[in-house]
Amino acid sequence: MDMEKLVALCRRRGFIFQSSEIYGGINGFWDYGPLGCELKKNIKDAWWQDMVRNPPPGPDGQEITMVGLDCAQIMNPKVWEASGHVGGFSDPMVDCKACRGRFRADHLLSFTIIFPNGEKTLISGLGSPQQILELNAKKLERWQKANGVIDVWPKPIAFGDLNEEGRMKFRCPTCDEEGMLTEPRAFNLMFESHAGAIKDDANKVYLRPETAQGMFVNFKNVLDSSRVKLPFGMAQIGKAFRNEINPRNYTFRSREFEQMEIEFFCHPSESMKWYEYWRDLRKKWYSTLGIKSGNLKPREQGKEELAHYSIGTTDIEYMFPFSEEPQELEGVAHRGAFDLNAHMKHSGKDLSYFDEEAWSKDAAGRKTNSFKEWLKGNPAAEEIEKYQYVPHVIEPSAGADRFTLAVLCEAYTEDKQPDSKGNLEERLVMKFHPRLAPVKAAILPLVKKDGMPEKAEKLYRELKQCFKVEYDDSGAVGRRYRRQDEIGTPFCITIDGETLQNDSVTIRDRDTLQQRRIPITEVEAEIRKALRS
Ligand code: GAP
Repeated sequence: MDMEKLVALCRRRGFIFQSSEIYGGINGFWDYGPLGCELKKNIKDAWWQDMVRNPPPGPDGQEITMVGLDCAQIMNPKVWEASGHVGGFSDPMVDCKACRGRFRADHLLSFTIIFPNGEKTLISGLGSPQQILELNAKKLERWQKANGVIDVWPKPIAFGDLNEEGRMKFRCPTCDEEGMLTEPRAFNLMFESHAGAIKDDANKVYLRPETAQGMFVNFKNVLDSSRVKLPFGMAQIGKAFRNEINPRNYTFRSREFEQMEIEFFCHPSESMKWYEYWRDLRKKWYSTLGIKSGNLKPREQGKEELAHYSIGTTDIEYMFPFSEEPQELEGVAHRGAFDLNAHMKHSGKDLSYFDEEAWSKDAAGRKTNSFKEWLKGNPAAEEIEKYQYVPHVIEPSAGADRFTLAVLCEAYTEDKQPDSKGNLEERLVMKFHPRLAPVKAAILPLVKKDGMPEKAEKLYRELKQCFKVEYDDSGAVGRRYRRQDEIGTPFCITIDGETLQNDSVTIRDRDTLQQRRIPITEVEAEIRKALRS
């Protein structure tokens, strides 16, 4: 699938626009148009319904408790000191002294070329290994011809690595100057602002780079205000901001985006069980919403890749058309007790959990009913941990915009369908899962006379109380079908002469193009059935 065609469709039909387009746009920011925001809302609603309101049973068949949160996007800056974002949330960045371009250094790669006589040279640039080889294809071909078979040392080296030749000289990907790139330096990705009238360091605040921390710092509030007991999860959908050095690949890497995050709190001894549960559940969720399993690539991160807080992480990756390598849709991380411990240390507040139920259940044979008294008897650490502990956390963290982009890529289909005369005609159709489709059904009077528009409008008014539906009476019905195909509407309901006689309508399926005649009273149930599939 050609990304340019998808981008053009998204703009033409009102899925996604460049932010502030009339002023030339702004790099890394995007606006969702009328259809795009319906699509993204359906994605977020599906996540909330399936993960928060009605999650499937847990690993032992138990009911799962999940609660929602909606935290402020600006928090006390101490939150970000405790979480490690002030000190460590950075990417290595280099500048080009010639053209003043600025790049993420971890994408600067180099290959060693080994000639048959043992001599070596380097090719380097910014991009994927494949892109770098392609950029240098002519040079490689020339060397090949002049020297016979050459060897390309297969492992690309990241920027700044040393090999036998010493530090490498990189070419700037924009102006092509060699050796003009600065040393990499850490660039913190958090957007800064000031709360209050005075712009000094004391008033410095950050736009949150993830929604997760709002849930950690509210752990005790939620425990004290609702009747939840461990294990339970908190969920939040909300904006996050990262000053990405090179936003790219359409909405994939943006500077403002939305996350759908869960922090699931459990006893340390049960954490692996919950990690596996969430990892498997989250992968399955994408498939139930129409992502082909072949395009989904769950990948367990190697030990060297793991973030500082993580005991284990699985990235759920998707084969986006702009890359030969699968790219991350979601990370499911076992964060251990890192976050609660860090916030305990920085805030001085006790964020441990006391399992009163377990304590009371094991009461028999104990001399005291008071936990504090019992602690004075110096029980073994493992004994205490049965009742009081800092919970471990499993975090499935998904990007709403990344999944929206994956859904758009997955849905984009070009096929050929017979027109009214039986000639094959090119068709562009967005094959969204009915739950995600921005418009669920279009109500089309066959012609604009004989009482058909009135009948169609009545049906439209009834259906719009339950679903996002469209009414369209302009132009030939074939053209109206094509337009609905292009925006991914699963059903077209046509009101024709027969409707006026016996209250039946035709219902056209977007994917099979089959048309069935059903009683007008069954239309709502037909749409509901598809939404449950
Ligand atoms: N709390 C953990 C966390 O934020 P992350 O892997 O940095 O982990 C989670 O982000 C998800 O957020 C990613 O899997 C991705 O879907 C989305 N995401 C991260 N950075 C993004 C960006 N610059 N643009 C769009 N989505 C992004």
